[in-house]
Amino acid sequence: MTSLRIVSSLLLILMQGISGAFIQAMIILTASWTLLKISPILDCSMIRLDRLEYHVREELNKTAPRVLVVLHPLKVVITNLESSSVMELDAKKWPDAQADDTSAFYKVPFSNVVYIERSDFRIKDSKDYYGLAPGKSVLLRYAFPIKCTDVILGDDNETVIEIRAEYDPSKKSKPKGVLHWVAEPYPGADPLKVEVRLFEKLFNSENPTELDNWFVDLNLDSKLVIPAAYAVPALRNAAVGDTFQFERLGYFTADKDSTAEKLVFNRTVTLKDTYCKGGK
Ligand SMILES: *[C@@H]1O[C@H](CO)[C@@H](O)[C@H](O)[C@H]1NC(C)=O
Ligand SMILES: *[C@@H]1O[C@H](CO)[C@@H](O)[C@H](O)[C@H]1NC(C)=O
Ligand SMILES: *[C@@H]1O[C@H](CO)[C@@H](O)[C@H](O)[C@H]1NC(C)=O
Repeated sequence: MTSLRIVSSLLLILMQGISGAFIQAMIILTASWTLLKISPILDCSMIRLDRLEYHVREELNKTAPRVLVVLHPLKVVITNLESSSVMELDAKKWPDAQADDTSAFYKVPFSNVVYIERSDFRIKDSKDYYGLAPGKSVLLRYAFPIKCTDVILGDDNETVIEIRAEYDPSKKSKPKGVLHWVAEPYPGADPLKVEVRLFEKLFNSENPTELDNWFVDLNLDSKLVIPAAYAVPALRNAAVGDTFQFERLGYFTADKDSTAEKLVFNRTVTLKDTYCKGGK
């Protein structure tokens, strides 16, 4: 059984003392394998890694509460909101949260300094782009629509240092794009900082079981560490082993490397299956 062979070979690598990224990958594969073994629709000869990941995602979609985390923060100053004003808004832990079920929600602060993902802003807008751009509006999920009114550039006239925006307290505008975000919890205080480790897929090809020697296909540069991502305060109480969905980013588990000063999260799996889209 090919997949079983992969798993046992990975175990062998592990015993020979190869790096931590593999330990993570190993755990994912073993967990996925276990999930598949108990799945009634199992066809052992056809197991592919994308199927393994699919089952992990299906499971985590039901069990991992949602939180907002920004990996590469870009500062947005909301000019029509007072700096002393902090609102406590309700965010959903589950996509199908019912309004009368308070346990399905958690509190997020919203203030005049908000951080969005750098990749969610562009100087040049285009039709198929739903992020923020000069003059354009987006919805900050669970909060308000904001419209970009100004862009502060660095000395090189290129690096975006800060965005100025106005929010729409009436919520009448309905922008197409919906972004995740994290705000200053109180005036002048940075949001909660967490370390986040991303792991790209373990193999370069879609179906390593077809290769004569799948070992040469291992993606050795698969780890990327983000030392200071911004998170909502609700994440502060995460315990080692707790898994969350960071909205729009994937599923992440609080790692044993967490300390009292800094929580550390490993990405277990991304949100969408990237194997089928060609390219990388
Ligand atoms: C999380 O990732 C690190 C490598 O960055 C690894 O050493 C650690 O074992 C991983 N944790 C788990 C539970 O797999
Ligand atoms: C996750 O679960 C929700 C219901 O809780 C469902 O509406 C949604 O389609 C699921 N998402 C995926 C990607 O399966
Ligand atoms: C930046 O733009 C300003 C005005 O457009 C110009 O005066 C300045 O020389 C530019 N600086 C650089 C480094 O390109």
